[in-house]
This record gives sequence, structure tokens and C-alpha cells, in this order.
Amino acid sequence: MSPSLGTVVITGAAGRIGNVLRHALQDEVRHLVLIDRVPLTAQSPVERVIRLDLADLDAVVSAFEGADVVVHLAGLPDEAPLAELLNANVLGTFHVLEAARRQQVDRVVIASSNRVTGFHPVEKIVNPDDPVRPDGFYGVSKVAVEALARLYADKFALSVVCLRIGSFEDRPDDVRYLATWLSPRDCLGFIRAAMTAPSVPFAIAYAVSANTRRFRDLDAGTQLGYTPVDNADDHAAHVVGADDPIDYSAPQGGRYASPGTTLTHIHGAP
Ligand SMILES: NC(=O)c1ccc[n+]([C@@H]2O[C@H](COP(=O)([O-])OP(=O)(O)OC[C@H]3O[C@@H](n4cnc5c(N)ncnc54)[C@H](O)[C@@H]3O)[C@@H](O)[C@H]2O)c1
Repeated sequence: MSPSLGTVVITGAAGRIGNVLRHALQDEVRHLVLIDRVPLTAQSPVERVIRLDLADLDAVVSAFEGADVVVHLAGLPDEAPLAELLNANVLGTFHVLEAARRQQVDRVVIASSNRVTGFHPVEKIVNPDDPVRPDGFYGVSKVAVEALARLYADKFALSVVCLRIGSFEDRPDDVRYLATWLSPRDCLGFIRAAMTAPSVPFAIAYAVSANTRRFRDLDAGTQLGYTPVDNADDHAAHVVGADDPIDYSAPQGGRYASPGTTLTHIHGAP
């Protein structure tokens, strides 16, 4: 592919998804700006690394100079105290959106999560128009992230695509992942589509593989231009409990929806 994507910024480039994306985009970009609060080393002539914390708005604005596309992955990816999630995920995303607005970035792709709807029951195929039902503080933070994205799209005409990412793993190694798995190949497919889909004022799409047991509607991703190809059930033989009966009334979030998962992060909670 020619370097048609121009200058792409990845926040959270040192993380699990950022590392995969960084390597995949090498031949498709003119410049790749890699941002993280932990140190990174440039590995090719197209790469430039910037160490910053998203809490520093001026630094984020400066890092986005000349950017065509921003893929925003940085943040806390799991349950944590609410104040930490608000800082890292919500205020961090605010700074990313505001910096993108000031630098007139063409498209922002934001890593949201399927856990914004983790309290819908397993029997329901959820699509992005259904009400949010977060399964914990992390899900709440991603609901706020999506709301900020919508605000910047509606108020400032910033083009933003939120991907509700499933369980990003090389292989599904847990029963719940048979529904929620997102393979690395499909993850890259969804992100590329979100980066390049023409004329999208705002969109939210689930990014999960074509798992037989999925409880997410994939139409929004198809409209962006990507239909996933991997299926977690192809790996079911290696997943302990894969043949156990399914409780269709249980929350989609599984163990993440349990009270204990969140209570652990509330200071002094009995
Ligand atoms: N991995 C998954 O299965 C999954 C599922 C759903 C959503 N997501 C979302 O996708 C994104 C990437 O996930 P991941 O698994 O690669 O996470 P990760 O924890 O591996 O990477 C996140 C990166 O963000 C950086 N970071 C965190 N706070 C920062 C800050 N304030 N300033 C600068 N950098 C900061 C971290 O140093 C880290 O390198 C996250 O937003 C996560 O919530 C991931």
C-alpha cells in the first residue's frame, strides 16, 4: 500500500494494541507519531516518538501538529478507582479531542469498549443505538468518552469514530471470549476502516470478531467498510468450559459485572 494515510498519531503506542498497530501501519503512512507516557524508541524512518502524559494539554496540542489522523488508545484499560479512570480516560480523551480540534485533524478514532453495554443480557444482540448499561466504573468512563466524542462531532464538526473494542487477544482462552474475542487481524481491519471511511461525521461501532456466540451487532462496522473474518469458535476445542450450558440471562460483562469487581475499587466499601 502507498503511504496514503499521511501523518498518523497513535496515543498509547506502547500498549498492547498500539504496539500491533504501530507495526502494521509502517508502510501505509508518511509519518507515524507515537505517543505514550512510557518511553518508546523509534524503529524506522517514518516513526517519531513523543513521551508525554495526556494530562498536559499543551503537549498534546503540540504533538498533534500536522496530524491527519489520530488513533487514541491511551488510557486505563480495566476496572480501577473512578477518580483514576476519570483522569486517564475522560480528561485524557478531552485533551485529545481538543488538541485534534485545534490542529484541524481530519479523523479521530477512539478506543471505546464493549463494556459500555456489559449489563445487557447474553441473549440480546446489542447494537450501538441501544441504551448504555456499563458493567463497572471502567465502562462508565468509556460512556463519558463517547459522549465527549459526540459533543466534539456535533459542536465542532470534528470527525470521530468510536470503536467498542471486544477482548483483544491472540487466541480466545476464556469462555466469555468465545463471544467477545477480537483477533489482532480483525482489530487492525476495524481500525483501518475507522481511519479511512469517507464522510463520517460521527460513528460508534462494535469491534469484535465474527464469533458465532457474539452478542454484538456488526452492521456499524460493515458500514465503515470492515467485516471481520475470524471466529472464536474455531478455537473452542482449546477453551475450558466451552461446552458448558450458557446462561442467556446473565450479563454480557460476565465476571466484570460482579459487584466485587467494582467494590474493590471503592475506598472503605464493605
Ligand atoms: N485490550 C483490550 O482487550 C481492550 C478492550 C476494550 C477496549 N480497549 C481499549 O483500547 C485501548 C488500548 O488498550 P490496550 O489493551 O492496548 O491497553 P494498554 O494498557 O496495553 O495500553 C495503554 C497505553 O496507554 C498509555 N497511557 C495510559 N495513560 C496514559 C496517559 N495519561 N498519557 C499517556 N499515555 C498513557 C499506557 O502507558 C499504555 O502504554 C484502551 O483505551 C482500552 O481501554 C482495550
